[in-house]
Amino acid sequence: MKALVLAGGAGTRLRPFSYSTPKQLVPVANKPVLFHCLETLRAAGIDEVGIIVSGSGAAVRTAVGDGARFGLDITYIPQEEPRGLAQCVTLAQPFLKDDDFVMYLGDNVFVGGIKESLQAFRENGAVAELVVSKVADPSAYGVVEVDPEGRVTGLQEKPVRPASDLAVTGVYFFTPLIHEAVAGIRPSWRNEWEITDAIQWLVTHGHLVRAHAFTGYWKDTGTVPDLLE
Ligand code: DAU
Repeated sequence: MKALVLAGGAGTRLRPFSYSTPKQLVPVANKPVLFHCLETLRAAGIDEVGIIVSGSGAAVRTAVGDGARFGLDITYIPQEEPRGLAQCVTLAQPFLKDDDFVMYLGDNVFVGGIKESLQAFRENGAVAELVVSKVADPSAYGVVEVDPEGRVTGLQEKPVRPASDLAVTGVYFFTPLIHEAVAGIRPSWRNEWEITDAIQWLVTHGHLVRAHAFTGYWKDTGTVPDLLE
């Protein structure tokens, strides 16, 4: 299995820090958030990683290099403009080819790793698996509705009135069917290609999408309060 790490984006919610440093390189517990991500992937047995970088991605390339120090083989995938998580999947298609992959948001930290979620994806026969976690304010996240068997029945991106308190975290497992789903959506009201819309496409077209509850500590470090926490 390959990994697609998203380390582009504008980082507007982490200004002023993100004026001088990509938000994925801001340190948490003495190392860039992105390093935690790469170590988590390696610990899960993944060694082929594509990293989405904005523009030339010079700072990320300098910090991470060819990946040898993490035991990883890294391919950089430039994104001219941050037009959404689903656009990142499209840009990465030549790298991902027809493989299953884990998409990992490079500003997320998972203490406890992702091995358990990966194992569940390998066993449950779903075309996509979302790692989810209960949160106090679901309106800041992608939100999923799940039936008693753990099947995803609906999703919304940052809804004003969330249908549940289950947030989509920054780890998604996909089969290559996600490429068909991304091709089937349109940009959202904020003019981004939303991965939640592509996953909703899978659900609407009758495919099995599962949610896997994360039991460790998870944090999206994309805002100053979250970074401090
Ligand atoms: O952290 C979990 C949340 O992440 C989910 O609950 C949401 O459903 C999902 O959309 C995402 O929301 P965010 O608002 O936190 O996404 P953000 O814009 O921070 O982007 C996530 C990562 O992807 C971050 O490392 C930047 C990178 N990125 C983002 C965009 C929009 C790119 O590399 N390219 C992009 O075009």
